[in-house]
Amino acid sequence: MELPPSLRHAVDRALDGIALSDLKRAADRLSQRYRAEVRDGHFHLSDDLAARAYLATRLPATFAAVRSSMEAVAEAFPDFAPVTALDVGAGPGTALWAASDCWASLDDALLIEGSPAIRAVGETLSQAAAPARIAWRAGDATGDLPGLEPRDLVTLAYVLDELAEPARDRLVDRLWSLTAGTLLIVEPGTPAGWARIIRARERLVAAGAHLVAPCVHSAACPLAAPDWCHFSRRVARSRLHRMAKGAEVPWEDEKFVYIAASRQPGIRRPDARIIAPPWSAGNGRIGFKLCGRDGTRTERILGKRDGAAFKAARRLDWGDGLSTPDQPES
Ligand SMILES: C[S@@+](CC[C@H](N)C(=O)[O-])C[C@H]1O[C@@H](n2cnc3c(N)ncnc32)[C@H](O)[C@@H]1O
Repeated sequence: MELPPSLRHAVDRALDGIALSDLKRAADRLSQRYRAEVRDGHFHLSDDLAARAYLATRLPATFAAVRSSMEAVAEAFPDFAPVTALDVGAGPGTALWAASDCWASLDDALLIEGSPAIRAVGETLSQAAAPARIAWRAGDATGDLPGLEPRDLVTLAYVLDELAEPARDRLVDRLWSLTAGTLLIVEPGTPAGWARIIRARERLVAAGAHLVAPCVHSAACPLAAPDWCHFSRRVARSRLHRMAKGAEVPWEDEKFVYIAASRQPGIRRPDARIIAPPWSAGNGRIGFKLCGRDGTRTERILGKRDGAAFKAARRLDWGDGLSTPDQPES
């Protein structure tokens, strides 16, 4: 996945003139802090250089994860056309860009971000974004987030991992109370990220939310550690991105996990979600690890003799919904 051209240009402008050695140092530091999930009371993006290193090395990947999650929401919920959006822990405005790429209806976005450094970068970038009304606000996601009205789309991307446990639960509850349509939470695709998403999922189901994606049912998650669920999206690396990371390969695979929940019913759930890369099962057959609408995790091998079911499945990938022709969508 590539960034939309207007965002790509805005990022290139923001990175223009920056010394590569500074960028590399800041990118290394950032990557260490993210990997260790450091929670020391300081924002990871606490200064301008860290904020720019995020643009060069993390924004393409978080954009791809958020945009892919939104695609799954749009598929499951074709009538959803958000006009207003709220994004908390907005960073450089990743979810704003992804949402306006996914839904042309988006017109009015409010972005809340605690770090002045990345907020300033995000505000500048968002001058090139499509929605007519875009407002940025300083705010603490661990507080009450006062004075906000419910919005059609509420997003929280790659933020829960920066918060302590009690603050996470409070934030999920508060964001659900601010959701008029759909709430989307995205986390890094690690076992710890999955555990945070499962906890948020349980709270949302208990609050009466309709799960949109990736889950195709609202029963308890059938996976138990060490088994877990996540998805992956291949992301193009720009030249600067490669240089900042000291990487040769022109792409990387971003692993992520997400949950989308809605106030409205009427979600088109596929028969099952493919929750791992499909594998070759020999003799032209393909194996699928699936989470089904009946709330179970199964493995299914499909081949030519399965006829229409195989035809429907053979081009599908990890993260896609699988609806076999004999079991139509509900
Ligand atoms: C990993 S970045 C994700 C940014 C963006 N959502 C994305 O997906 O690219 C996490 C963001 O959450 C912000 N953040 C962390 N703790 C916060 C808090 N307590 N209040 C407000 N923002 C916070 C950070 O400053 C950072 O910009």
